[in-house]
Amino acid sequence: MKVDVLLGLQWGDEGKGKIVDVLTPQYDIIARFQGGPNAGHTLEFEGIKHVLHTIPSGIFREGVINLVGNGVVIDPVIFQKELEKLAPFKIDIKSRLLISKKAHLILPTHRLLDAASENAKGKNKIGSTLKGIGPTYMDKTGRNGLRVGDIFSPNFKEKYDSLVEKHVGILKHYEGFEYNLVELEGPWMEGIETLRQLPAVDSEHYLNAAIKSGKKILAEGAQGTMLDIDFGTYPFVTSSNTVTAGTCTGLGVAPNKIGKVIGIFKAYCTRVGSGPFPTELNDEVGELIRKEGHEFGATTGRPRRCGWIDIPQLKYAIMINGVTELSMMKADVLGCFESIKACTHYIINGEKVDYFPFDINDTEVTPVYEELPGWNCDLTQLTELDQAPKSLTDYVKYLEQKLEVPITVVSVGPDRKQTLTKEVPQVI
Ligand code: GDP
Ligand code: IMO
Ligand code: MG
Repeated sequence: MKVDVLLGLQWGDEGKGKIVDVLTPQYDIIARFQGGPNAGHTLEFEGIKHVLHTIPSGIFREGVINLVGNGVVIDPVIFQKELEKLAPFKIDIKSRLLISKKAHLILPTHRLLDAASENAKGKNKIGSTLKGIGPTYMDKTGRNGLRVGDIFSPNFKEKYDSLVEKHVGILKHYEGFEYNLVELEGPWMEGIETLRQLPAVDSEHYLNAAIKSGKKILAEGAQGTMLDIDFGTYPFVTSSNTVTAGTCTGLGVAPNKIGKVIGIFKAYCTRVGSGPFPTELNDEVGELIRKEGHEFGATTGRPRRCGWIDIPQLKYAIMINGVTELSMMKADVLGCFESIKACTHYIINGEKVDYFPFDINDTEVTPVYEELPGWNCDLTQLTELDQAPKSLTDYVKYLEQKLEVPITVVSVGPDRKQTLTKEVPQVI
């Protein structure tokens, strides 16, 4: 079997957690391949809302293994809190959750470095979630990092102390930055103890053996394509490869083992944190989308910036990821509009372009919109796409034509059940 991939095509928070949970019964293994607790993946069923940060979104389904891959960075403190939140649901974590020995650890000093670095950037802040993501990946590529496998080593404490010493040296350069490391270290060491109780595996071997034996695997992305370290709106990005290629390096799965690539996007667009966002609406329309969509960060609670859908941006993301099918999320949120807009082009330096340019941080990008009829009704009770208002099915067809990829899921609410599906057509 091949490994299917589900990932975000915009700036994150597209609804990955919900769709992974919906698709999990079709799979044997759900594997996160990058990112860390900067992610907040929300699932809703039986009237309960769950937010996961490090643990894959298949954890609530029986008989499915959830694997935290080598490309993920783990904060033991946040991880332990996630486990504690799951405790009331009586999930047998030890039989359902595996962690790669090669996943890197976020140290308390990584979080401090993240905060100090953001502080020093002043108005050029990335708007990081301050979970220590950047500094941890920097130590990974700088060949200084600590990995899950190291916690079983007799000289783990020595390795930890040596890295902390290095970090403390760097922190001295941030004048006026105060911190209390001892306070942070206690819970961190407790978290390490918890991690030691869980099965740490050579996940690349585990997954490749699973592929060979015909197991079905879904790779769960975090963040979104426009936050990718190489292809996103650099430098306002995260520090990992959020794209399909990240599955290969983040799980140890070869490119020829990748199957379907499910790209997920909102019927509009959001972004949280700093950085360019061509279709952002700084007006009452953007405000209304934020209100209707409850667009506040699942990890930080920050208000998300909102705007219309951006077709050149989505085309770019589809190209980079090799998307084979699409899920359109939060169609219900646009239910309050008589008409909606889709950005088809940009005007840059007086020229009309339909591709995503190299750098839009210092260049003025004016979106060109096409206005389309809205559905102007409540979609949340819909159970079949055939019963959807024509303006919604027309919007789906319009996007399929522009994006040249079939939309197989239309989501009309946060609950598992509020998910409309359609077969992949032979020809679009
Ligand atoms: P993720 O990071 O991609 O998993 O997405 P988040 O969980 O950060 O954000 C998506 C938010 O939208 C969550 O609060 C979900 O419960 C919610 N959501 C997902 N799908 C839908 C939908 O179709 N309609 C509505 N109204 N909310 C949705
Ligand atoms: P999920 O998986 C939305 C954003 C931050 C910031 C930038 C860098 O829930 O979609 P970092 O903490 O990685 O240094 O932050 O990336 N960001 C996200 N935005 N959803 C996420 O994850 C995000 N993870 C990071 O807001 O702008
Ligand atoms: Mg999220």
